[in-house]
Amino acid sequence: MQNDFWQKMWASGVVGFHQPEVNAYLKAHWHKLLTTDHKAMAGEVLVPLSGKSLDMLWLKEQGHDILAVELSLKALEEFIEENHLHRRFSIQDLVHERFCGYELEAMRLFCGDFFHLTREDCQDVVAVYDRAALVALPPEMRADYAKHLLEILPPDTPMLLIALDYDQSLRNGPPFAVSEQEIHTLYGEHYQIEKVQEDKFERKGVETVESTYLLNFREN
Ligand SMILES: C[S@@+](CC[C@H](N)C(=O)[O-])C[C@H]1O[C@@H](n2cnc3c(N)ncnc32)[C@H](O)[C@@H]1O
Repeated sequence: MQNDFWQKMWASGVVGFHQPEVNAYLKAHWHKLLTTDHKAMAGEVLVPLSGKSLDMLWLKEQGHDILAVELSLKALEEFIEENHLHRRFSIQDLVHERFCGYELEAMRLFCGDFFHLTREDCQDVVAVYDRAALVALPPEMRADYAKHLLEILPPDTPMLLIALDYDQSLRNGPPFAVSEQEIHTLYGEHYQIEKVQEDKFERKGVETVESTYLLNFREN
């Protein structure tokens, strides 16, 4: 049912979450994630529930390879078309047993369910960028999402996470409200969590807080 919801949204062409510019929090804070991780990182960034986010192009410009996972093939095709990637890169169909999608220079665009991603798929991942992925999922799926992510990531993989919080009784998701407390519940056992920015604004008549977190693995 979740999957149908997203497929219908992409088919309708109305994707209000898509940002026409690169995310400002990403640009402001990504470099902190890299330096706090104490290692040179130009490797692959996992972008779960990627949509057609322009943030992937920005990350690529920073020298990263990209592993995107997105349910909608239309989203990935729009990503390629709207950014004229055909003109710049040779694009191949992805050959994979569980995903369709595309491969182009330094980018793997997986079309399918995030929960089908395996440790093998993620073996080169050095960081995760979650903007509007965790908050896209209803409460009953979020623990499974975080658990799966932790299972498939290589050890010590840091993450930049952008989440929204608001009074869930006033509006339905998505995006769902995800509190700082919940982020600690989902990830606190494994990660040191630092909130690096918090902005308050009114969204559709509801007071909303958007927070950016850096998650680094705990050193034991
Ligand atoms: C709120 S959007 C965010 C997209 C992107 N991160 C951005 O910032 O624009 C959530 C996206 O997740 C995709 N999605 C939802 N559930 C998914 C799943 N289980 N596996 C892969 N993609 C999923 C949806 O199709 C949608 O494009």
